[in-house]
Amino acid sequence: MSGVVTLPTFGRRRAEEPGEPRAAAASPPPTAAPPEAIAELRAQCLARLEPAAVSALPPDRLRPEVERLLSDIATERRLQLNAREQRALAGELVADMLGLGPLETLLEDDAIADIMVNGPHRVFIERGGKVTLSDVRFRDSAHLTAICQRIAAAVGRRVDESSPMVDARLKDGSRVNIVLPPLALDGPCLSIRKFGKKSIDFARLIGYGALSEPVAQVLQIAARSRLNIVISGGTGSGKTTLMNAMSRLIDHGERIVTVEDAAELQLQQPHVVRLETRPPSLEGKGEVTQRDLVRNALRMRPDRIIIGEVRGAEAFDMLQAMNTGHDGSMSTIHANTARDALTRIENMVQMGNMGLPAAAIRTQIVGAVDLIVQVERQRDGGRRIIQVTEICGMEGDVVIMNDVFRLETTGERPDGRLAGHYVASRARPGFAERLAYFNLVEPWMAALAAASSAG
Ligand SMILES: Nc1ncnc2c1ncn2[C@@H]1O[C@H](COP(=O)(O)OP(=O)(O)OP(=O)(O)O)[C@@H](O)[C@H]1O
Ligand SMILES: [Mg+2]
Repeated sequence: MSGVVTLPTFGRRRAEEPGEPRAAAASPPPTAAPPEAIAELRAQCLARLEPAAVSALPPDRLRPEVERLLSDIATERRLQLNAREQRALAGELVADMLGLGPLETLLEDDAIADIMVNGPHRVFIERGGKVTLSDVRFRDSAHLTAICQRIAAAVGRRVDESSPMVDARLKDGSRVNIVLPPLALDGPCLSIRKFGKKSIDFARLIGYGALSEPVAQVLQIAARSRLNIVISGGTGSGKTTLMNAMSRLIDHGERIVTVEDAAELQLQQPHVVRLETRPPSLEGKGEVTQRDLVRNALRMRPDRIIIGEVRGAEAFDMLQAMNTGHDGSMSTIHANTARDALTRIENMVQMGNMGLPAAAIRTQIVGAVDLIVQVERQRDGGRRIIQVTEICGMEGDVVIMNDVFRLETTGERPDGRLAGHYVASRARPGFAERLAYFNLVEPWMAALAAASSAG
């Protein structure tokens, strides 16, 4: 964490600075304390600190306490550390001890996917798709603000009244958003999407009940045969997770460029270029948008472009990429149905390219996107693929779509989980030629048939 003070190494000049103990000035001039001494001091100090007492002390009193303890131990054990070294060690220990304070236990719990802090006394968590209020509390707003600032500082950013909104990342890769008062009315707000430690592949998704074997097969064929795919869903519905799983099927010989606002993709291929946007500086300069990056990506000779989430003007460039030989490109989008996803893409393109007629945009979309995969976090907390839709073409100015799969919910099981099955289309897809090129028509049709008979 940012608050961790790394131990400086001391040269002779520093030891002679005013306020340093004179004993150290004798010749030969002192060098840095031996690492074993520091390690011993650290271990002794940690052993003697009472965890309950530590958590009860406010941070500003903890530090002098730790310093006093360190000095006692150093004297007792005749460890050669000067005052400055002891202070640095105290700072490190305090930062370690406080870490992210009350959040630490939640961060350690792998079953928790999201942590949502609404002011110091309301910390919500999401576990198994369900959101509940936890019993974690911060002492007060100042305590929470200090932790927010520590998180921001760790990625070289500042968060305070003058710049009250920050996106950051924890050391483990978890995605963090911070909003402070006065923008947040009820105290500092912190939203953490924890970084999944175990990567989720198709086998695991099937195990979770997110999709059936035939649906997985179809998605695998789609990824292998370089269809352009948009994964659509609500917030936290599992879009990024599914895209990660699908990206595992990309051939290792391909050059992939990823564009993200906050890097979350975990591609396994050897030839990946990862690009991440940059927010503007405090003076409002230096911003690099997703659109800039997608445009740049096109000049990097990519075989595929993967955009973490399209949310703005870059939608146009994404369509361009998909239409100009970067087949197999993928993105996620925030939308509630496959048809909504199309409307959102259309609106995003329009916002960035005023004056482009809707019909022209739709033609672009139809030419570019092959499949939309809709995911949903359902009322039982399960995240499932509810729709796999092919974009077939246009009739007049209406986009024609065909559901390859649709999840039909039939009821509830005794344990509260939803029960349902996939209804599959038997139609030969419009991109059958492409499947044929990869020799994958038969497996595709077989997966559809298997889904129907299983249902
Ligand atoms: N099928 C699944 N079963 C169980 N947990 C899942 C499933 N898919 C995703 N998750 C978990 O749900 C959380 C949210 O997933 P993910 O980040 O993929 O969602 P998202 O739709 O991309 O969210 P956002 O809208 O915030 O970008 C993660 O912790 C992830 O591990
Ligand atoms: Mg996501």
